[in-house]
Amino acid sequence: MSTDNLEPIAREARNLIANARGLAELEAARVALLGKQGSISALLKTLGAMSPEERQASAPAIQALRQEVADALGQRRMAMEAAALDERLAAETLDLSLPAPERPQGSVHPVSQVMEELAEIFADLGFSVATGPEIEDDWYNFSALNMPESHPARAMHDTFYFPDPAPAIDGQAPGRMLLRTHTSPVQVRTMLGTLDRQPGGAPVRIIAPGRVYRSDSDATHTPMFHQVEGLVIDRDIHLGHLKWTLQTFLAAFFERDDLVLRLRPSYFPFTEPSVEVDVGFALQGGPAGKVRVLGGSGDAPGHGWMELLGSGMVNARVLEMSGFDPNAWQGFAFGVGVDRLAMLKYGMDDLRAFFDGDGRWLRHYGFSAFDQPTLSGGVGARR
Ligand code: DAH
Repeated sequence: MSTDNLEPIAREARNLIANARGLAELEAARVALLGKQGSISALLKTLGAMSPEERQASAPAIQALRQEVADALGQRRMAMEAAALDERLAAETLDLSLPAPERPQGSVHPVSQVMEELAEIFADLGFSVATGPEIEDDWYNFSALNMPESHPARAMHDTFYFPDPAPAIDGQAPGRMLLRTHTSPVQVRTMLGTLDRQPGGAPVRIIAPGRVYRSDSDATHTPMFHQVEGLVIDRDIHLGHLKWTLQTFLAAFFERDDLVLRLRPSYFPFTEPSVEVDVGFALQGGPAGKVRVLGGSGDAPGHGWMELLGSGMVNARVLEMSGFDPNAWQGFAFGVGVDRLAMLKYGMDDLRAFFDGDGRWLRHYGFSAFDQPTLSGGVGARR
């Protein structure tokens, strides 16, 4: 077959490829040319019937044509795909001037908010934030806080125990694992932790906010709730430091300069002496009857005292068990319910709603993550 005879077939092939409108027509052209029944394929098949000399003369031109057609098909396909992409991109441009659709917005839970406020206020007083595990063992939760096995004060904590025994600590008999009933074990962990840095002790100034657990449930008790523990250990620390710290903290937290505290003798195994702290309030008429407004002496007419927190000077036995020499070091500690602080400051009356996860409640009582209205500068701004 001479090259001349190929020319009409080649021309038709070029036309077919050039005139294809769209990928479907191009594919049809490919089948018509290179498919099993295609015209170029037919040409290739003729080679088989030729004599060796004829084949030698014709094969290069036929192979070249097949290659040209395959290349042309490929190029056309790439051009079409690029054009299709350009078209799609042009059609898909976003109108950035359109307002974005509304999205559900979360809020900061009052407990988180209050914990932030506490951390900020105590940071101003030189305290750092310490944490400890919620799954505790007997020794940290009770024994090291001067509540040995069979101590009656343990009964006040309706403890969730785990069935397995805890590992032995420092040769002590293995205790039981439990969900911590208060944040006080963080006192022990912090004191023991400072010994790693400085054997014999080092000053400590921490608050430890976190979840605690007790088997208890009604309008003012939930099986999980929050506490914040405070601990100061240093040389020459006395009750006056405790009183000043609590007064400064509570006045800053409740944003009231007229806050009056009353310290009453009390008992906690881990403090000696122990004090319970009340705060004075006034009964004032509100739209729904009398409401308690914090401030002023609780002894004034129309006023009362409300119990707020427990505290005291760290018991010498607790210091000793945590590796501090009680003749050289003293300290004070306090523990207060975070949920209760939130309720008093922000006016919720049912503790259970804190943990229901109801979006409506959270929208009402929650805080924006972007403006922190009560964090206007902590303690410093008030003096
Ligand atoms: N741990 C106590 C409780 O949960 C609260 C408490 C009282 C903590 C006195 C203290 C303290 O640090 O000194 O009931």
